[in-house]
Amino acid sequence: MTAIALGVPVIRTAPGDSELPPLADRPISPGLIDSYGRRASDLRISLTDRCNLRCTYCMPAEGLDWAPTSELLSDEEIGRLIRIATERLGIEEIRFTGGEPLLRKGLPAIIRTAAALPNRPMMSLTTNGLGLHRRAAEFAAAGLDRVNISLDTIRRDRYLAITRRDRLDDVLSALVAAQEAGLGPVKINAVLLRGVNDDEAADLLAFAVDGGYQLRFIEQMPLDAGHQWHRSEMVTAEEIHATLATRFALSPHRAPREGSPAELFDVRSRSGGDVLGTVGVIASVSKPFCGDCDRTRLTSDGQVRTCLFSTSETDLRVLLRGSADDEEIAETWRIAMWGKRFGHGIDNPDFRQPDRPMSAIGG
Ligand code: 5AD
Ligand code: SF4
Repeated sequence: MTAIALGVPVIRTAPGDSELPPLADRPISPGLIDSYGRRASDLRISLTDRCNLRCTYCMPAEGLDWAPTSELLSDEEIGRLIRIATERLGIEEIRFTGGEPLLRKGLPAIIRTAAALPNRPMMSLTTNGLGLHRRAAEFAAAGLDRVNISLDTIRRDRYLAITRRDRLDDVLSALVAAQEAGLGPVKINAVLLRGVNDDEAADLLAFAVDGGYQLRFIEQMPLDAGHQWHRSEMVTAEEIHATLATRFALSPHRAPREGSPAELFDVRSRSGGDVLGTVGVIASVSKPFCGDCDRTRLTSDGQVRTCLFSTSETDLRVLLRGSADDEEIAETWRIAMWGKRFGHGIDNPDFRQPDRPMSAIGG
């Protein structure tokens, strides 16, 4: 890449991921920008790699080797990074994820700390919902804005088969409690698995529409701990559309917010009539939206990842536990962002699944 001409930074236009972009080309900017001109305003923080479910497409029945507590960021360290991200890096929105973020004892305190910041970020939570019915009001009072609840089936036997736990009722009461607590619009994340629940797309949508939840189907990505993902096994967005069309009429919804991966559709009955709700289809694999990505990620052990599929990370924990000041941490994060690759490259012959599974990155 050529050097800066007339003070204008060179923004790369084509995927050229074989080399990292020269740092000298980086424009002076307080925000998190990369060499393709994208800016991150959405921070995903994994609060723990542990989970109380064992979804077959995520982790084995016996669980994984959880990170020792000493390696996890403390609530105070997370609070400091959120402050730096909102104060210095232009982060406007935060999603807490896991593993299962409700297992993190300090979650209400972390939310309260973030809610008290002058540049208060929008805050949401991606959770499996277990235990949320008891705590939804507490989280709303702490300052949480919204929740995404994961639910792949509404059949009890299938829920047990997929998650290896008989907890469907917990999730159903979590959905109601979240809505009652004002944590809406409540979104449901669903992953369809071939031969397991792929015949349930329309039932899930009918359930979501009845309850006033916004359903999003997510194509299964190669992020399972067992590295068993095969593209041919994945239920594609196209197939999901075709299945939904047997029961509903879908038409494109107004454009989703910039950077949002979900293609949104208005849902009507096949005989027409009023819009019953919306449904999203996130075609992460078959129609990647990397070009619009506005995310940066932080793992529970303090590593910045610029992408779910990053194969390298930037250690902020070592800085937090050393003598680095806020600006040094912010600058390290900016440099990490500058090196963000163009896309996940799942279709490239040399694609390598990241070592960390989804549960240790955060969805
Ligand atoms: N591909 C797509 N989504 C996944 N999730 C977990 N693993 C995968 C995967 N490999 C989803 C969960 C949950 C969210 C955290 O991510 O179902 O909704
Ligand atoms: Fe837990 Fe989510 Fe993985 Fe299921 S997909 S085991 S809920 S981390």
